[in-house]
Amino acid sequence: MTPVTDPRKIQSSFDLPRHVGIIMDGNGRWAAARSLPRFEGHRRGVEAVRRAVRASGDLGISYLTLYAFSSENWSRPPQEVDDLMGLLKRFIRLDLADLHKQNVRVRIIGSRDNLATDLKALLQEAEEITGNNTGLTLVIAFNYGGRQEIAEAAKKLAVRAARGEIDPQSIDAAMLSDHLYTADIPDPDLIIRTSGEQRLSNFLMWQAAYAELVFLPLHWPDFDRPALEDALLQYGTRERRFGGLTSAPNAMTGS
Ligand code: FPP
Repeated sequence: MTPVTDPRKIQSSFDLPRHVGIIMDGNGRWAAARSLPRFEGHRRGVEAVRRAVRASGDLGISYLTLYAFSSENWSRPPQEVDDLMGLLKRFIRLDLADLHKQNVRVRIIGSRDNLATDLKALLQEAEEITGNNTGLTLVIAFNYGGRQEIAEAAKKLAVRAARGEIDPQSIDAAMLSDHLYTADIPDPDLIIRTSGEQRLSNFLMWQAAYAELVFLPLHWPDFDRPALEDALLQYGTRERRFGGLTSAPNAMTGS
C-alpha cells in the first residue's frame, strides 16, 4: 500500500478507510456564486472527479464510489439531464485510457434499463477494458437509487424462492447483500458529502449501515486532495463499534 504522504495529517495507513463513498454536491451553488451557468459547475465537477480519483489511488484507498447520477436526477430539466449524460460519456471517452494507465478498475452500479444504447456500450467498455486492473476500484453510481437497488434484490430473491431454488426461511441480510449491485464490493467505511448538506439522498442505503459520515462545507468543484485528507483525518478520530461495546477490528488489517 502506498504510504500516506503527509504524516502531520494522517498518522498511518492503519487509519485509512478501505472504501470511501462520495456524494458530490454543490455544483449548482458553486456556479451560482460565480454567476455562471449550472453546466459550468458540473464541468468543473468532472475536474474534481479526476482529482478525487488520483488522490484516492495515491493514498492507498481500495474503493472509491462516486454518486454521479441518481434515479431521482431524471426529474431535473431535460437540458441539465442531457448535460450530465454528456459529461459522463465525455469523461469515459477522454479519461478511460488514463484511468487504465493508473491501474484503476472501473465499475458502474445502477440500473441500465432505459439507458441509451451508446451509453450502455460505453459503460460496458469501461468495465471490460479495466476489469483486470489491480489498483483503485472506481465505482460510479449512475442511474442509481439505494431503495430501488434493495427492491431489485428483494425481487430477485422472491423469484428464486418461487422457483424453489431457495427456501424463503433461509433469506437473511448476507443473502440480500449478495443480490445487490455491490455484491462483490465491501461496504463503505466512510461517506463524504460536500456542500454542507447532511443527508444520504438514497446513496448506498443498505451498505451505509455502519459507515462513518463526514460532511464538508466546500462545494464539489472545489474538492481536492487536502479536502479528502481532511475527511480522512476526521474518519481517523472516530471509534467504530458496529453496534458492539468496543472498537471493531480494523476493516483493512483484521487486527
Ligand atoms: C450535485 O450538484 C451533482 C450532481 C447531481 C452531479 C454530479 C456529476 C458530476 C460531478 C459530473 C459527472 C460525473 C462523473 C463521474 C464524470 P447539484 O447540481 O445538485 O448542485 P446544487 O445542489 O448546488 O444545485
